[in-house]
Amino acid sequence: MLLKGKTALITGAGRGIGQSIAESFAREGCEVALSARSVDELEEVARKIEERGGVAHVLPCDLRNGEAVEKLVRDSIATLGGQIDLLINNAAYACFKPFEELSLEEWQTTLDVNLTACYHSIQAVLPAMKARKQGRIINISSVSGLKGIRNQTVYCASKFGLIGLTKALAIELREFGIGVSALCPGGVATRLTAENMPERNQDDWMTPEDIAHAALFMATQSDRTATDILHVRRFQGDPL
Ligand SMILES: NC(=O)c1ccc[n+]([C@@H]2O[C@H](COP(=O)([O-])OP(=O)(O)OC[C@H]3O[C@@H](n4cnc5c(N)ncnc54)[C@H](OP(=O)(O)O)[C@@H]3O)[C@@H](O)[C@H]2O)c1
Repeated sequence: MLLKGKTALITGAGRGIGQSIAESFAREGCEVALSARSVDELEEVARKIEERGGVAHVLPCDLRNGEAVEKLVRDSIATLGGQIDLLINNAAYACFKPFEELSLEEWQTTLDVNLTACYHSIQAVLPAMKARKQGRIINISSVSGLKGIRNQTVYCASKFGLIGLTKALAIELREFGIGVSALCPGGVATRLTAENMPERNQDDWMTPEDIAHAALFMATQSDRTATDILHVRRFQGDPL
């Protein structure tokens, strides 16, 4: 088992990519803390993990509330026996529409969930990681953090921002033995894309399991190596 004895907090773990990352890490022996708003979805993921012999904890949180995010991280560390090896900032809000139709509330919610919540989660996790001089933070950005895409202005702004945070923080935290990386998937068939791009046929899109495979690589790579940005794109079709 590649993650035996390790612990992880995964946000947005109730469905889609976060669910697959949680299931994949748990299969490799990682004890996981699962967070999102929908308690029923989190409990279903935890039930599946425990059915297969894994250990999962449900910690609901609305990431729009910074104080709640910092409490989530503190509670996760306590629940996971005082140690946290992996922080996976995966949850996101998406609202794809022309820029002029975007409300200030949609703009703000996107930045709050996709970027500012990562400020809070990382601030809260660092003391515990620094004390042990180890830890990995994996931020789930997107191809939308690498290139501009029509109707995704604020989503792109949030995901480009997350890349900037990742790259600058990786340099600051290197001396403390803490790795910071960004995973940038292209099109993955999930609720987020089905709701925001209903006109697109997702038949040959990547699956959440494909992205979990990449996240598992990043979580288990040797301490001598670092991945700054991993761009996983569809093999077929346009390069999204
Ligand atoms: N699907 C793609 O093609 C694709 C491509 C590139 C990158 N990504 C990125 O991959 C990550 C996962 O996306 P996905 O496609 O798996 O989306 P998804 O299926 O819609 O899942 C999103 C998760 O985030 C949680 N979430 C949303 N708002 C939240 C809030 N305010 N507080 C707490 N949790 C919240 C959701 O739970 P609740 O609603 O219950 O809170 C859910 O568990 C995101 O960072 C996304 O930007 C996706």
